[in-house]
Amino acid sequence: MKKKISPSMMCSGVLEIGTYLSAFEKNGIEYLHIDVMDGEFVPNLMLGTDYVKSLRKASDIPLDVHLMIYNPENKIDWFDFQPGEYVAVHAESTAHVQRALQKINATGAKAMLAINPATPISALDYVIDDIQAVLVMTVNPGFAGQKLIPQTLQKITDVRRYLDDKGRYDVEIEVDGNVSFENARKMSAAGGDIFVAGTSSFFNKNIDLDLGIQKLREAIEL
Ligand code: DX5
Ligand code: ZN
Repeated sequence: MKKKISPSMMCSGVLEIGTYLSAFEKNGIEYLHIDVMDGEFVPNLMLGTDYVKSLRKASDIPLDVHLMIYNPENKIDWFDFQPGEYVAVHAESTAHVQRALQKINATGAKAMLAINPATPISALDYVIDDIQAVLVMTVNPGFAGQKLIPQTLQKITDVRRYLDDKGRYDVEIEVDGNVSFENARKMSAAGGDIFVAGTSSFFNKNIDLDLGIQKLREAIEL
């Protein structure tokens, strides 16, 4: 599958968003990753429904919304999700995972199941037909700037093998957390398809944005 980049918009300052969005559009960036955090499921508060709606208006790049919130099944319709967008809910965030995925699919958006570093792949067992992607967390969710949890590299490969064994070659794997230029290469070789670019790659003041995007592209292309 084609390798894609999804910049983590929480890593952009408010004043720089316009600059980032025009560079992303110029460089064919495939998704915009929006981290929504409720301060309960993760120890941080970040980006909300208004942010999602205004970013949707500000750019034609499809959204990739990462819901780090408890009981997301009750909040899907707060966001007005659209066809072509990805919406990830965490397997650990509700007793009603399948209902949450069902609600996402009913909006026309594509459902993605996120699994934290310690969560076994078996969390996918009974919702394999309800998802278009799996979000493999390579850090513990809640903050940018963390370090890769080493054992999650093997987990990317294990998820790919799990999906292929079930004939779901179409299901994409998104990788989120410390996607540095160096880690990205390993994550791509391990089976990652979509890479959440945060502070470890081009959201870094010392890097020219166009060059940074190009460098990440080169790192993920096998
Ligand atoms: C963390 C978020 C990530 C984070 C990535 O909970 O899900 O998207 O912003 O940032 P870096 O690349 O700095 O880990
Ligand atoms: Zn994220």
